[in-house]
Amino acid sequence: MQDLSCWLDVLGCPECRGPLRLEATDRLACPTCGLDYPVVDQIPRLATAEVRRRLDAFADEYRRRRLAEGWQPLSEADLLGLPEKEPPSPFPLYWPLRRETWQIVRGRLITAGPPPEAGPVADLGAGVGWLSYRLAQAGYRVVAVDASVDNAFGLAAARAYQAVAPFLAVQGDLERPPLRRGALSLVLFNASLHYASDLVGTLRAAAAALQPGGLLMVLDTPIAERPRRGTGHGDRHLGRRELDEALAAAGLTAQWVEIYRGPRWRLHQAVARLRGNDLFDFPLVMADKPRSP
Ligand SMILES: C[S@@+](CC[C@H](N)C(=O)[O-])C[C@H]1O[C@@H](n2cnc3c(N)ncnc32)[C@H](O)[C@@H]1O
Repeated sequence: MQDLSCWLDVLGCPECRGPLRLEATDRLACPTCGLDYPVVDQIPRLATAEVRRRLDAFADEYRRRRLAEGWQPLSEADLLGLPEKEPPSPFPLYWPLRRETWQIVRGRLITAGPPPEAGPVADLGAGVGWLSYRLAQAGYRVVAVDASVDNAFGLAAARAYQAVAPFLAVQGDLERPPLRRGALSLVLFNASLHYASDLVGTLRAAAAALQPGGLLMVLDTPIAERPRRGTGHGDRHLGRRELDEALAAAGLTAQWVEIYRGPRWRLHQAVARLRGNDLFDFPLVMADKPRSP
């Protein structure tokens, strides 16, 4: 079990972004807002009671939909193999794409940083936490935040990683991340930013959690020429210009990295084009917070 007193420099009140106090092993509190946040099943629930009800309802629906689409809960061995090994998936291209992206992200972190010693890292919309696990293996101190504590599709599944490369799992809203102002060297949205209903507000909140000179990464988010409807369950395809402008509005300087995808994805794109379907891709976006305001 994680000792929460070691995470008080990273965690923040989702309402005011100020420091939290550990009141008991099962309770954190914000002295500024006078709010209490419970710790249940070793997962801090860092959202107000009203927001938690919304997150729990979202997570129930998310689980129902995943099962209906044919996703299966992963075994511990499958979780530990992500994204290098391909577990069963209803979409054969899914994990190969995720693996390609992770290889690029890992390479960028090794060559350009931020390195683990630059400070803690947050994985917002972490799901089962496979990216947090890979970052923790690489030496980073990681907080994984997700709406869902589901044991198949949410943070409870992340217990598979704790004996190998531990990180802190926290229930929270990626639009109001439970992170302390200026605490992090790196914030990642891994296939999750397209769930934000307030894109600019979400990016501003993430930018506020970064140290000066910190880095925000958006990966595996579907991006199209213009914003488009997604699956109709809270997600959508972000527009390229929309995201660029939102990052600038959050005070971040963005660099777009086109990832060379393999022949299977390019064939998929060609077929979509012939059918007249809307095209989208998954570029990597890296956005820097200025060193001085
Ligand atoms: C497509 S999944 C990606 C999960 C994981 N990052 C991965 O790459 O496998 C999107 C995730 O975003 C989470 N999510 C969506 N809206 C959220 C919100 N408002 N706050 C926190 N998490 C959210 C979902 O619960 C889900 O785990």
